[in-house]
Amino acid sequence: MTRYRRIDPEITRRKFVNWALGVAAGITGLSFVTIVGSAKPVNRETPDKLPPAEGDILVYADGAQVGKPIDPKNLEPQPTRAYPQAKSGDGQPLVKSGDTNNLLLVSKFPEAQLKEPTDLESTAQGIVVYSAICQHLGCPVNWRNVDQTYLCPCHSGVYDPKQGCKVIGGPPPRPLPQLPIKVEGDQIIATGTFLIPPYGISETDFEEYKERAEEGNKG
Ligand code: FES
Repeated sequence: MTRYRRIDPEITRRKFVNWALGVAAGITGLSFVTIVGSAKPVNRETPDKLPPAEGDILVYADGAQVGKPIDPKNLEPQPTRAYPQAKSGDGQPLVKSGDTNNLLLVSKFPEAQLKEPTDLESTAQGIVVYSAICQHLGCPVNWRNVDQTYLCPCHSGVYDPKQGCKVIGGPPPRPLPQLPIKVEGDQIIATGTFLIPPYGISETDFEEYKERAEEGNKG
């Protein structure tokens, strides 16, 4: 004789509810992972991303002397690549290489060749400094020896470093931002942050950018 086990409807309902809860938890967990995974990485502020600011020393960005202060005597029209270096909170040198806009081009011309709209007050001994990052779509610009200009390789934007890096060709919407400097002994020192917004910073956000520059160097 066949024996049938009685199925307790309460146990069956509980099993189903447990199973449903498990599935729901799995889906929720998956969704959470998906959301977290697809979220844009947060651009966390770190000291090396601070804007250039008054008091920063310009140091070589690459080459044999990377990290050493740029000697103003060894400059020429073909630019030297530099980063601003501040002091960190504990007094150690802090190279601000974490923001691409902080890559700088340092050129030296005969003083008489520098013309407006270069901010002449922000130059020293014919040395003029700009952000190396193109104002069109953010490519680093290069030197073009034939006419002593800065050329962007991405869409052929051309800037004249003797005239405030004004745009003389291609699509960039505004000049490369000039960094005001002075020469002290054998060092080039920033006397403030960029004079106009660098790439990716709107006019509106530029006020906050300047505040970050000031506050950052107070440690
Ligand atoms: S990114 Fe420089 S011209 Fe387009």
